[in-house]
Amino acid sequence: MGRCWFLELLVVGTYVWLVINNVGVEGYPTEDLVKRLPGQPKVEFKQYAGYVDIDVKHGRSLFYYFVEADHDPDNKALTLWLNGGPGCSSIGGGAFTELGPFYPKGNGRGLRKNSMSWNRASNLLFIESPAGVGWSYSNTTSDYNTGDVSTANDMVLFFLKWYEKFPSYRSRELFLTGESYAGHYIPQLANAILDYNAHSTDFKFNIKGIAIGNPLLKLDRDTQATYEYFWSHGMVSDEIGIAIMNNCDFDDYVFENPHNISKSCNDVINEANEIVGEYINNYDVILDVCYPSIVEQELRLKKMATKISVGVDVCMTFERRFYLNTPEVQKALHANRTNLPYPWSMCSGVLNYNETDPNINILPILKRIVENHIPVWVFSGDQDSVVPLMGSRTLIRELAHDLKLKVTVPYGAWFHKGQVGGWVTEYGNLLTFATVRGAAHMVPYAQPSRALHLFTSFLHRRRLPNSTNFQ
Ligand SMILES: *[C@@H]1O[C@H](CO)[C@@H](O)[C@H](O)[C@H]1NC(C)=O
Ligand SMILES: *[C@@H]1O[C@H](CO)[C@@H](O)[C@H](O)[C@H]1NC(C)=O
Ligand SMILES: *[C@@H]1O[C@H](CO)[C@@H](O)[C@H](O)[C@H]1NC(C)=O
Ligand SMILES: *[C@@H]1O[C@H](CO)[C@@H](O)[C@H](O)[C@H]1NC(C)=O
Ligand SMILES: *[C@@H]1O[C@H](CO)[C@@H](O)[C@H](O)[C@H]1NC(C)=O
Repeated sequence: MGRCWFLELLVVGTYVWLVINNVGVEGYPTEDLVKRLPGQPKVEFKQYAGYVDIDVKHGRSLFYYFVEADHDPDNKALTLWLNGGPGCSSIGGGAFTELGPFYPKGNGRGLRKNSMSWNRASNLLFIESPAGVGWSYSNTTSDYNTGDVSTANDMVLFFLKWYEKFPSYRSRELFLTGESYAGHYIPQLANAILDYNAHSTDFKFNIKGIAIGNPLLKLDRDTQATYEYFWSHGMVSDEIGIAIMNNCDFDDYVFENPHNISKSCNDVINEANEIVGEYINNYDVILDVCYPSIVEQELRLKKMATKISVGVDVCMTFERRFYLNTPEVQKALHANRTNLPYPWSMCSGVLNYNETDPNINILPILKRIVENHIPVWVFSGDQDSVVPLMGSRTLIRELAHDLKLKVTVPYGAWFHKGQVGGWVTEYGNLLTFATVRGAAHMVPYAQPSRALHLFTSFLHRRRLPNSTNFQ
């Protein structure tokens, strides 16, 4: 009797202690807490940033930026976002120009709020991956020779150690998202997580879904789609379009030069690339381009240099480079702790990424993920010529066919704010393909509101509305 009473007292006592020491409950690392970023508007949610050591002997360490949901973070999922490349920065890309809470200001010296940030729906984790990207590094330069499998394995190690810093997230629902070459990173990571879960007797990742935008899934089909896109959007002549059709067999096209295509095909696609030229943003063919020399000059003069084209700031890439290279910003983020001998750049200049890995066909990996009943969403900004929707749509239909999944939502428009947000189809209640109308390769950058709607639907396993009545 007395013993029970004692236990109860202990339980109540512990509870009181936990409530009083709120920080202790979370156990989050105060040294990683970002108090305030230079020029940052005041916000209520918390941000953390810092390093997770992956291999102490080699001195390999990955940098992360973690943003809690703006509201009720304890009851919201954890979402990882990765940019592509291979070798490009998820912090410069996803976090500070696409779906994170802040965008750089026109003068590159401050931040403005992104009112369509995905942290309205989820806690967000951005990682510079693999080591060699952004502020992630290794003291052993041979670690920069990397590829899909080692990148995914490092990410699994990252999560296991990151969960030690943020223990309450260990059991939290986990969603993996990204764009472009993250069409390799995310499925490869999900695959490594499924392996881990199959072998682990105690801890298992609570993986609940993956969503990838304009993803590289199968290089030969995705490359063919680029030339179809050029032709269908009036970017090359009819003669060139027909010559590509007649001369090119893209089956077995490879990433390395020469691309394993005939000379006549090689000649005509080179001609096409030349005509499309330098003055168009291939990642968003509708958008104007920013003229960097003018911008950088103006940034130096600390003048406003923002150039707006159809509602988005096309010079944001230059503003973010300026901002993230500011020493006070790096200090506030606990970044660059070993004083790397090169500046921050959007895509790595030190990485030596495996040249044959881009040829890997990702569809068998997506197949395994779907077979494990993990929802997969592939979304596609329809203004992108780099990984255009025609490739992704065909590949996903073929995957559904291979998996013998029935159409559960017939191809049709989805709606957002009374307008068509894009077109969508779903297979077997698990596999979704959706376009985002008027969006670029970087979907959340060009169409922030439609992108947030799509992301929220994905998180909550809701279908995109097929009429203007459901908003
Ligand atoms: C890498 O080298 C730096 C400088 O020599 C050292 O401070 C650091 O502890 C090493 N390891 C890691 C993981 O950074
Ligand atoms: C090059 O293409 C041919 C014919 O399509 C194919 O048999 C071969 O395997 C390809 N080579 C590589 C390296 O992919
Ligand atoms: C790291 O800091 C050094 C100065 O200490 C700076 O020269 C370098 O550009 C920075 N590198 C990165 C990647 O931020
Ligand atoms: C690239 O990765 C493949 C496996 O995906 C491997 O067979 C090949 O040896 C690697 N190439 C290099 C140069 O490391
Ligand atoms: C729209 O979606 C609802 C709910 O999923 C469904 O019952 C209805 O049949 C759909 N309408 C069309 C035209 O597809």
